[in-house]
Amino acid sequence: MTWISIKQARHSDSIGKTVEVRGWVRTRRDSKGGFSFIEVNDGSCFGNLQIVADGALPNYQSEIISLTVGSSVKVSGEIKESQGKGQSTEMVASNVQITGLASATDYPLQKKQHTFEKLREWAHLRPRTNTFGAVTRVRNQLSFATHEFFQQDGFVYVHTPLITASDCEGAGQMFRVTTLPLDKIPMVNGKVDNTKDFFAKPSYLTVSGQLEGEAYATALGKIYTFGPTFRAENSNTSRHLSEFWMIEPEMAFFELTDNMTLAERYLKFMIKSVFDHCHEDMEFFEQRIQPGLLQALTLVLEKPFTHLSYTEAIDILLASGEKFEFPVSWGVDLQAEHERYITEKHVNGPVILYNYPKEIKSFYMRLNDDGKTVAAMDVLVPGVGEIIGGSQREERLDVLTERMVQSGLNPDDYWWYLDLRRFGTVPHAGFGLGLERMVQYTTGMANIRDVIPFPRTPGNCEF
Ligand code: 4AD
Ligand code: MG
Repeated sequence: MTWISIKQARHSDSIGKTVEVRGWVRTRRDSKGGFSFIEVNDGSCFGNLQIVADGALPNYQSEIISLTVGSSVKVSGEIKESQGKGQSTEMVASNVQITGLASATDYPLQKKQHTFEKLREWAHLRPRTNTFGAVTRVRNQLSFATHEFFQQDGFVYVHTPLITASDCEGAGQMFRVTTLPLDKIPMVNGKVDNTKDFFAKPSYLTVSGQLEGEAYATALGKIYTFGPTFRAENSNTSRHLSEFWMIEPEMAFFELTDNMTLAERYLKFMIKSVFDHCHEDMEFFEQRIQPGLLQALTLVLEKPFTHLSYTEAIDILLASGEKFEFPVSWGVDLQAEHERYITEKHVNGPVILYNYPKEIKSFYMRLNDDGKTVAAMDVLVPGVGEIIGGSQREERLDVLTERMVQSGLNPDDYWWYLDLRRFGTVPHAGFGLGLERMVQYTTGMANIRDVIPFPRTPGNCEF
């Protein structure tokens, strides 16, 4: 018997075939006519396959009639055209084999709707719900589209280390990696003796693969990284995780405007890819999560992104007449409320902000001729705020060294990064996209904890 996915079985091409499907029971309804309808899902698509189980099946009375939600089954039979609404096919079962029962009293995911907060406590079972199945497939599509986009464009995928000794963002939000005995830390002269640690120096989980990415971009031209990153930032918001996935392209001979163009093309490519391949899932998000989502995303595809300098953005905020919790003036770091005003109220679509004051941005961003701003760019989108952060990089050795010192970093620790400016330096640029924020934007899911399988946030490391 050929085993096919429920996605295939739901396609009208399968009508007339006798096949097997395998999955988990979503619902069972018993008809007075002496047969049952069983809805089975196997994760291959949003919809379930309706199984018609006749009372004449040998295990009908003994097993099928008491088949519980969450149980796993193998079912074979013929795929027929369905008379029912909302599906084109159904299976008339000739054999229903139960592989594992789920207790009706203990299985948490009964028909009743649970809140997303409650479902986080069952992060191991929530992928079996409609919402998390759909989120997972969209996340998969965005990841696949990422590789497709960059590979088609001649980028090389580079694996940068997760354990590092350098703080890329210089923000001191790193998790320490150590094998030192915490109850008996070796000390010299009142300080921790780091020479006794595993790497003989302090090491951390990376906040970004950018610095190492630059080493490869200044050799291979166009590269991208795509991996986990870690931030020990104590933010309990709907947009922050302690462990998240970031895509970081880095391009030699690119300036800020090239960087902006690439970011816009990449975001549009991903949305198009999700539209092309996750139709049913996206319909669900439109109906149940965020009405208007599909139209908003379609508009993104059609319109060029708005570009605003930081200075223009400050002027807009000052003229807005809004009461912000954090007051606005030139030089302040933009808060979520400011970013949201710009992207949601002023632009109502994606916006690229660029040329930020150097004091609020990282040391590696290229200093502009005004001496006050750097060639930074953030892409902001409605509902999420900052989705991309990037810049043109400082390629001048003297300026970079000076910026490091001003930022309180020791240039000696970054000797290899400075070498990239000593030997054949080139203008170059790149950016980082937070995958989870992109999933939020694409699906309309309000909380970032609900777009990653097992979220890590301050105080939460279950599973
Ligand atoms: O703006 P960030 O900190 O930029 C960098 O790390 C640069 N090194 C990237 C580069 O130029 N190669 O982070 C980039 C993006 C943010 O725009 C956001 O989408 C996401 O990463 N991000 C987070 N996502 C979830 N949780 C967090 N705590 C995040 N911090 C940043
Ligand atoms: Mg940023």
